[in-house]
Amino acid sequence: MATKTTKRTARTAAQSLPPYTPTPAFTAVPVSTSDSSAEALVVYVFENSKKIEGIEDGKLRSFLEALLISEGFRAKRGRTLLCHTSERFKPKRVIIAGLGRRDELDLDSVRTAASAAAKRAAGASARAVTYTMPPAAPGETAPPSERARAIAEGFLLGAYRFRKYLTGDRLREDRSLHGGSILAGARDLPAAQLAVRTAVRVCAATNLARDLVNEPAIAVTPIRMASIARALAPRAGIGCRVHDEKALEKMGMGAFLGVSRGSDQPPRFIHLVYRPKSKPARKIALVGKGLTFDSGGLSLKTSAGMETMKLDKAGSVAVLATMLTLSEMNARVEVHGLMGMTENMPGGSAIKPGDVLRTSGGKTVEVLNTDAEGRLVLADLLSYANGLGVDEIVDLATLTGACMVALGPLSGGLFSNDDALSARLVEASRISGEKIWRLPLYEEYGDQLRSDIADVKNTADRYGSAITAALFLREFVGPKTPWAHLDIAGPAFLEGSSHPYMRRGATGMGVRLLLAYIASFS
Ligand code: BES
Ligand code: MN
Ligand code: ZN
Repeated sequence: MATKTTKRTARTAAQSLPPYTPTPAFTAVPVSTSDSSAEALVVYVFENSKKIEGIEDGKLRSFLEALLISEGFRAKRGRTLLCHTSERFKPKRVIIAGLGRRDELDLDSVRTAASAAAKRAAGASARAVTYTMPPAAPGETAPPSERARAIAEGFLLGAYRFRKYLTGDRLREDRSLHGGSILAGARDLPAAQLAVRTAVRVCAATNLARDLVNEPAIAVTPIRMASIARALAPRAGIGCRVHDEKALEKMGMGAFLGVSRGSDQPPRFIHLVYRPKSKPARKIALVGKGLTFDSGGLSLKTSAGMETMKLDKAGSVAVLATMLTLSEMNARVEVHGLMGMTENMPGGSAIKPGDVLRTSGGKTVEVLNTDAEGRLVLADLLSYANGLGVDEIVDLATLTGACMVALGPLSGGLFSNDDALSARLVEASRISGEKIWRLPLYEEYGDQLRSDIADVKNTADRYGSAITAALFLREFVGPKTPWAHLDIAGPAFLEGSSHPYMRRGATGMGVRLLLAYIASFS
């Protein structure tokens, strides 16, 4: 009897580990073995052009070019035209994907076209998509493998759906793609295969992060997150230590603990470590805000303001998904991933406006608004990161509505005390396609954080509050430690259809950026 129960529990736990939807396969294959079996073949057209890009076959091309005209198709970025070839040609369906203007072509146009084509193919009940190689921009110097990678990313990110809680008809009507491929010429094939393999790894990590952020707070509590991390870490070849509330107490993390007081869910501090096989070139700490739910605490949010607050763990989840991918990509640097998991709730023991909390570094904080909780958790985590003696610290947090107002849903805010670190992150942003924009740390605003009764207070004026939040965090980082803060409140979770190739819901913001950043040391 006892054995039975144990077994059942074990199985249930194993089943519910993310990823909930396996990332579809994507490969680069030679053109020669190509389109005979393509369920859906993707070709391209530039805006204001009547020429189909991507295929040689004269007859199919003329057929499609005639269709372009008869349909009056305008090839804006992300528009598609589905063509049934009525058995006249080898591929049953051809999807013509718009690339936008030729002189504006970049990797994001390619990702957008690939994503739109994948959605169109899924809608037409295709199970696999075959992409032709997209054309180069005028004067392009990058090899075709970069475009192959962007196609794979557009496909893998665009095909993602969070289906875990769909049943019956809703699940059936939600068609999924099983795989995709891109056709490459013999000369480009090896590089394309390598690039596509990287894309699959990075997108699998991104989609894992999306799964975890999309999970509601009832399912992913701090304890649940710790057990997920503990289960996935050894498989990914990284270390994982979980500190419970007693350990937090011992470490003197009074700010972190203060936030958790109003909740029935105990907090967890998850410390992941990746160590490369050879001597590391550098030691980095990644720190993530992990609020599995942010109600605001006693400074309660409005109902509307709370609707998406399961997203408030996105920073910590990006750290986890990144850490789980470092062994596979043979990263050369030592990386510590710190996840501060808690709920922010208004329970009877909740912290109250006016309360003073003592952080592990010794500084005291007067809490004037319990909804400015992320910085309290991060204060203790940043001190801990400093204690690890790392060369640099990067934190990710859905920290302020102000940053979202400033930059919108497409870009994170970057704050840093170090120009070199900042420049490396901006370069990783360019390569990965995840936008970040540097914002200033104006010293003049620092006075707003002075408290009458404690070292600092946790809120400042409404205007410029993304900056003062970053200034608050800086208080807990050593003056000599290069540090960057990424405020991802806007791009972590999409509410509208503002993104060119991602759907509504979690985006996995930060994962592609961090992986590109860490890959830059190899
Ligand atoms: N988690 C929120 C920030 C947020 C808002 C993220 C909207 C994503 C979408 C954060 O904890 C918060 O509540 N920030 C307050 C701070 C204020 C009370 C100083 C904010 O930005 O309003
Ligand atoms: Mn809050
Ligand atoms: Zn929050």
